[in-house]
Amino acid sequence: MTRVVCPGSFDPVTMGHLDIITRASVLFDEVIALVIVNPDKEPSFTAQERVNMLNKSTAHLENVSVDHHRGLLVDYIRDKGATAIVKGLRAMSDFEYEFQMALTNKKLLPQAETIFLTTTSEHLYLNSSLVKQVAGFGGDISAFVPPQVLSDIQLRLCDKYIKL
Ligand code: PNS
Repeated sequence: MTRVVCPGSFDPVTMGHLDIITRASVLFDEVIALVIVNPDKEPSFTAQERVNMLNKSTAHLENVSVDHHRGLLVDYIRDKGATAIVKGLRAMSDFEYEFQMALTNKKLLPQAETIFLTTTSEHLYLNSSLVKQVAGFGGDISAFVPPQVLSDIQLRLCDKYIKL
C-alpha cells in the first residue's frame, strides 16, 4: 500500500492545491493532505480552519484524508510510514525552494522521497497569497478556490484591505 503526504500551508486551499491532491489520489492508494507549519509565513486562517476547508474540498475523494502537524515534516512521514512527499511544481521560481526542501528532507530521513507533479497550465499563476489579496479587496475568487470553501474565504477576507 502506498501512502503519500501532500504537505503545505493551505492558507487557504486553492484549485491548484486541489488539482495536485486529486492527481495524487489517482496515483497512490492513500493520500494525506497535511496542514503543516511554515515558519516563514504568518497564516491568515487558523490550522483548524485550514483543515476544515481541506476536508470540505476533498470530501468527494475517498482515499484522501486531512491532518495537521506542528513539527518537522519528516517526523510525520516517519510516524505515518508514508512512502513519499508529493508536491506541485509551478514554474522555475518554485524550483530552487522546493529542491532545497526535498534535499533537506532526504538528508533528515533518507527514505523520504519527494515526488513533484507539474502544475496544470490552468493553475500556473495561482497561489494562496494572490487569492488572499484579490479576496481582501473584494474581488471575485470563485475561479481560484474550491466552491465548497468560497464563502468561508470571502467572509473572512472580503473587506480586509478596504478597511485599511
Ligand atoms: O505551502 P508551503 O508554505 O510552501 O509549504 C511549505 C511547508 C509547510 C511544506 C514547509 O515549510 C514544511 O515542510 N514545514 C514543516 C517544517 C519542516 O519540516 N521544515 C523543514 C523543511 S525542509
